[in-house]
Amino acid sequence: MIIAIDGPAASGKGTLARRIAAHYGLHHLDTGLLYRAVAKAVLDAGYPADDVARASAAAAAIDPEKFDENALKAHAVSEASSVVAAIPQVRKALLDYQRAFAARPPGAVLDGRDIGTVIAPGADVKLFVTASPQIRAARRVAELKARGVAADERDVLADLLRRDERDSARAAAPLKPAPDAHLLDTTLLDIDAAFRAAVAIIEAARTGRKRG
Ligand code: C5P
Repeated sequence: MIIAIDGPAASGKGTLARRIAAHYGLHHLDTGLLYRAVAKAVLDAGYPADDVARASAAAAAIDPEKFDENALKAHAVSEASSVVAAIPQVRKALLDYQRAFAARPPGAVLDGRDIGTVIAPGADVKLFVTASPQIRAARRVAELKARGVAADERDVLADLLRRDERDSARAAAPLKPAPDAHLLDTTLLDIDAAFRAAVAIIEAARTGRKRG
């Protein structure tokens, strides 16, 4: 079974994806980490994130086995990740890895921006997870606080909106729900309620598939 979970920054899709993967015994890939790793490699080497040649070379060379998730979640990396993600050559270099990951038995949950539209258009279930920008910013601030990082909610909100805009407006694999994606708005849901809602959608989709 392949489950595709897409949505804007800090919508809660990562937490949901991890819980759904554990629940169904599937592999999980946070595809945002791939773009973050490319961005970090380019910045660490002293180049701007929009350097197409450097970013494409970095994308071809990344090793997900060696990812340091904490370093990849840094603010400067978040910002740069949506810049490298708009480069078609970068997306192309990361495509095979993601598709191969999805194909590994017994299946996988992948979360990102283009999983239901580009990476796994034939996924068994597609979720598009949203929440209001204000709620997403508040959740991100709480998450940063829990990691000991101080953050101003207005700055975080501005960052999220800028990244959403870049991700939605780009020509290459823009952030948008697949036509057959199930929308899940978590604005008024805590993580347990969001998880239950997601499982209900997945179960209904699987049952429908069996009947059909
Ligand atoms: O999900 P996360 O916020 O970690 O993703 C970081 C950035 O990577 C996003 O803002 C987006 O530009 C890019 N991304 C993407 N396609 C994906 C996953 C992430 O373009 N499937």
